[in-house]
Amino acid sequence: MCGIFAYKGSSLNAADVISSGLKRLEYRGYDSWGVAVINNGSILLKKDIGKIGDINKLDLPVSKLGIGHTRWATTGAVTQINAHPHLSSDHSFALVQNGIVENFEELKEDLKNKGYKFISQTDTEVIVRLIEEEKKIHPDLVDAIKSAFLKLKGRNTIAVLDSKTEQILAVRNGSPLIIGLSKNKDIFLSSDALSLSSFVDKIIVLDNGELVKIGSKIEIKNIKTGKIVHKDWEKLTFKDANIDKGKYDNYMIKEICDTPETINQVIVQDEKNIQNLAKAIKAARYVFTIGSGTAGNAAGQIAFYLREIAKIPAISLIGADAKEYYDLFSEKDLLIAPSQSGETADVVEVLDIAKAKGCKIATYVNMPGSMMNRMSDFKFLANAGPEICVMSTKIFVSQVAWGYLLAKTTVGLYEDGINNLSKLAADIKTYLEEDTSHQAAKKLAQNLIEIKDLFILGKSQNFYIAKEGMVKIIEGTYKHAHAIPAGDLKHYAITLIERGVYALALVSNDSSFSEMFNVVNEIKSRGGSIIGIYPEKLPAFDYYLKSPSIGETSAIGNIIPLQLLAYYLAVLLGNNVDKPRNIAKSVTVK
Ligand code: G6P
Repeated sequence: MCGIFAYKGSSLNAADVISSGLKRLEYRGYDSWGVAVINNGSILLKKDIGKIGDINKLDLPVSKLGIGHTRWATTGAVTQINAHPHLSSDHSFALVQNGIVENFEELKEDLKNKGYKFISQTDTEVIVRLIEEEKKIHPDLVDAIKSAFLKLKGRNTIAVLDSKTEQILAVRNGSPLIIGLSKNKDIFLSSDALSLSSFVDKIIVLDNGELVKIGSKIEIKNIKTGKIVHKDWEKLTFKDANIDKGKYDNYMIKEICDTPETINQVIVQDEKNIQNLAKAIKAARYVFTIGSGTAGNAAGQIAFYLREIAKIPAISLIGADAKEYYDLFSEKDLLIAPSQSGETADVVEVLDIAKAKGCKIATYVNMPGSMMNRMSDFKFLANAGPEICVMSTKIFVSQVAWGYLLAKTTVGLYEDGINNLSKLAADIKTYLEEDTSHQAAKKLAQNLIEIKDLFILGKSQNFYIAKEGMVKIIEGTYKHAHAIPAGDLKHYAITLIERGVYALALVSNDSSFSEMFNVVNEIKSRGGSIIGIYPEKLPAFDYYLKSPSIGETSAIGNIIPLQLLAYYLAVLLGNNVDKPRNIAKSVTVK
């Protein structure tokens, strides 16, 4: 949700390095961008709507210092004026923001009454004018920033480029901010560690309420107490992370094809760590799983495995809608949160409250140093490599595979879990390497190109897989999809079934098989068409995609053909596969 990237050094040209950093942060928002650099004591600025990824070289002078931003619009439309950075009236400083100032309207009204004029519709400009106002009382910019920042409500992270002192000042409260140091002692600042991986080898993660001053040296202070905070550099473990598309047309298909390796990374997780969490699961009064979007579906599937395999009555929550649980959390409970970014604000808020109530927190994240990772009692890293496509694919599989292994470990079947996951990884590898799997998904996509709706039916182990398939179809096609527990169709949605309606049935050879087929027949007898996902083609299927795997992990395998279908549909429709409209990969605002 918006990306911030800044540079102060001696070896590189600021505009070039910032634009290359922003290109890596584009997954956080890509409706507009902006870069400000200092040249001969003045700030020079370029900003525009669209993607910075489409710009080859920025028309800015050589500079050793600057800040940049890639925007996911929240307050104010997508216009050039609303793009960040925003300049102070005297052009002495420029500011970028990641977050939402919840009280911006009151602050703006007050500043307008004091005579300030606004040129944009953003809450960001309100911060700039507020700092100008605070400067009247606190002439030092750092003090003015501190004072203004403490008046902001909501989760906000800002970076300021000061032309007078040639410093970068940044404050974090919510969205992440990571300082990086290169071998040449160049200093970087970014919204994630991944974008820093090719520049630096050491990082410091700023915590909430910390202000960093990047001048001739780096100084971190607690914004409220003003006390200096000493932090040690951590080695950046993402070094040499491959963010190349390689032979693939886009990241989505590359990342789907990375899946077997992703599952292999689950298999090599530290066994002791998993056993410890399994013990905590058994000891807990309640086990909650929680996530948002795709991670919410993974949380649902993990809870399913805990109930089905480990007989633990786990409850799955959605980050944005868990408030009624706040009063129910106690120190006897455990929350398990899968998350790619480890920063999703909706989830972090719930975890913060649960932690304050004494609950234990376990997280499975892909971003080292992320907020969730740092706040957890049980920390797991997916080690799945960067996932660049905004539509999550390999990380979902990683999360549910890990949840499956956790459930097996909870009942003493760790080895069996490992063997089944190895088999799953091998089956998916074979499947993805076979051209026929891709051709079948492509052909089906051609047949479905005109449809407006798609029902996706799943039951038991396949229900959250159906929900995740729905997410992929919606994100990839901008069309409507509706996931439904198969047996519930007869209670309401059957009214919509008629000729020309398509329903995709996720089938596993388990106890739900015959009930799934009752539903399939109910749809067919009303003129609907069935797309079956199953290891073999059955006569009831009008269309068919082979599923890669069988047995206890078959539902995990079933997501792969659905991901491929969403991918080929997105390609055929001419949609932006890696950056679907309106969504962002890391949502750090509420
Ligand atoms: C955003 C993304 C989703 C993602 C969700 C949770 O909404 O668009 O793809 O599933 O955030 O992200 P997380 O980083 O917590 O997995």
